[in-house]
Amino acid sequence: MTITSQEELEALRRIGGIVATVLRDMGRALEPGMTTRELDDIGRAGLAAHGARSAPELAYGFPGATCISVNREIAHGVPGERRIAAGDLVNIDVSAELDGFFGDTGASFAVPPVAPRVTKLCRDGKRAMWEGIGAVRPGARLAEIGERIEKFADKGGYTLIRNLASHGVGRALHEEPETIPTWADRSERRRLHEGMVFTIEPFLSCGASEAQDTDDGWTLIADRPAPTVQYEHSLVVTRNGPLILTVA
Ligand code: CO
Ligand code: CO
Repeated sequence: MTITSQEELEALRRIGGIVATVLRDMGRALEPGMTTRELDDIGRAGLAAHGARSAPELAYGFPGATCISVNREIAHGVPGERRIAAGDLVNIDVSAELDGFFGDTGASFAVPPVAPRVTKLCRDGKRAMWEGIGAVRPGARLAEIGERIEKFADKGGYTLIRNLASHGVGRALHEEPETIPTWADRSERRRLHEGMVFTIEPFLSCGASEAQDTDDGWTLIADRPAPTVQYEHSLVVTRNGPLILTVA
């Protein structure tokens, strides 16, 4: 969506704050031995406490309040009986709706003890996201987001997942502008304008470059067994640059 009023901005900040708070609380609660369903229940309760509804449930009938993806799974993981173990790399993606407005955020968490290269991957995954966010201003080429992220990834010897894009958000979980590349894409010709609302969520990896479908119809796994992380914010393009909506 493109926001046109202060009321819309405030509604987006409200739901953005809720999903960010729930993500933070789930990250803090994460510990070895718990099931991904127990972790999801914490997310569900957190959303309910704020009167918000799970966006993937609402929009797609997803069987969980949040998406929890472990190790080879990189996105849209279904919460269940799987137990979190020491050394797991866990991605939590929280998106929700309140009063007709949607927010979307995600982060990867490494459960100690963590290999040094995974610690570095997590740090660099956040940096990759911020590299993309740094390209946001009215009039900018949308392609600059992905170009900056790819330059950063290349410098660090990383790969990017190239078939999971960022997206417009606001009145729906996924809306215009659709399929925003977080990699260099010569065919991308769109420009950013003031008020535009969308996510930036690169998937940075130590070797994977594609997400693949699995038999459950939801979970996406990396094409290679390489550590992969995702960090995501929802934001608005303002005259002064990016305004991050998903802040706890
Ligand atoms: Co998300
Ligand atoms: Co998203």
